[in-house]
Parts: sequence; C-alpha cells; structure tokens
Amino acid sequence: MKKIKKLFNQRDINVRVKEIAKEMYKEYGKKEVVFICTLKGAVFFACDLLKNYKGNARMEFVRASSYSGTESTGKIELNLSISEENIANKEVVIIEDIVDTGRTLKFLKNYINEMKPNSLKICTLLDKKARRVVDIDTDYVGFEIEDLFVVGYGLDYNQQYRNLPYIGVIE
Ligand code: IMP
Ligand code: MG
Repeated sequence: MKKIKKLFNQRDINVRVKEIAKEMYKEYGKKEVVFICTLKGAVFFACDLLKNYKGNARMEFVRASSYSGTESTGKIELNLSISEENIANKEVVIIEDIVDTGRTLKFLKNYINEMKPNSLKICTLLDKKARRVVDIDTDYVGFEIEDLFVVGYGLDYNQQYRNLPYIGVIE
C-alpha cells in the first residue's frame, strides 16, 4: 500500500457529517426523505449521515460509474434498483461521494427527475468545483477540495483504499 497524506481525519469527517444531518433535519422535519446512495463510493458517508439523521428516512441505492483509474471516461453506466413508485411525489436526496466533472450527477439527476419526485436535492461529501465540465448545483457539501485525486472513507483508486477511515491523497 502506498503512503497516503491525510486531508480530513475521522474527527473532521464526523463533525461535518453531524452538521449536515442536522441541517437536513431542519429542512425536512417530519417529511419522509428518500436517500439515494450512489455505490460504491458514497456508502460510508451515507451510512454515517443516516445514522445521524433524526427524521424519517428511506434508503435506496444506485450504481453509477464513469471512472477508470484516475480518469473520467465521460461515459456513464447506470445500474439501479430504484423504481418510480419509490420516488414519485417524494422528497429525494442523492448522496454522492464526490462531484468532479459533474457528468455522473447530471445524468443521474435527470434520470431521477423523470420519476417525478416532489423535490430533489444533492448531497456530496466532497466537491472539486474547479474540475466542473457540466453545470450542476449541489445543495449540501461536506468539503470543497482542490483538483486532487483522493481516496479513503469509501473513495477508491482502482477499487483500493475504500476502507481507510480518513480521506487522503496518494503520495
Ligand atoms: P464526475 O462524473 O466526473 O463528476 O465523476 C464523479 C465520480 O468519479 C465520483 O462519484 C467518483 O466515483 C469518481 N471520482 C472523481 N474524483 C475522484 C477522486 O478524487 N477519487 C476517487 N474517485 C473519484
Ligand atoms: Mg461515485
């Protein structure tokens, strides 16, 4: 395993996750929210976020991938278990690990929107704003980061490093 330089440690992440969960509860209150976790990267974040969310929540999963190594291929593959009956007229939040070019989210957002949710918001752990290629708004952001390839806390490099409890950069 290569050396990893820490960007955000477990404490930083925990504090921010709790803040976001609180913010969300303030917004949704008693309304039920369907959280869509994007596999595999957002799994750790989604679990921690939902454990700290005090409202009524459902959890769905979707698999969207556009990356090979450290490069975005620009071609998005979707593999999802969600259906219109779980989404129509509901408050929906997509939980992402990281927004980079924005292509994956834009694609996914359009797809979900066709299922006619009552509202649709985006929550991402990390945002690499400088890398954006398509226009997409994020509603909840854990941390904004520079143009760095990061791993850990669910994020991978060729399927490795997801299990690191912190977020870092491969040196
Ligand atoms: P986008 O479509 O270019 O926005 O790509 C977003 C997806 O690429 C994310 O959901 C991640 O799976 C992956 N990705 C982008 N940047 C990184 C990174 O720094 N580390 C690990 N995965 C990344
Ligand atoms: Mg992802």
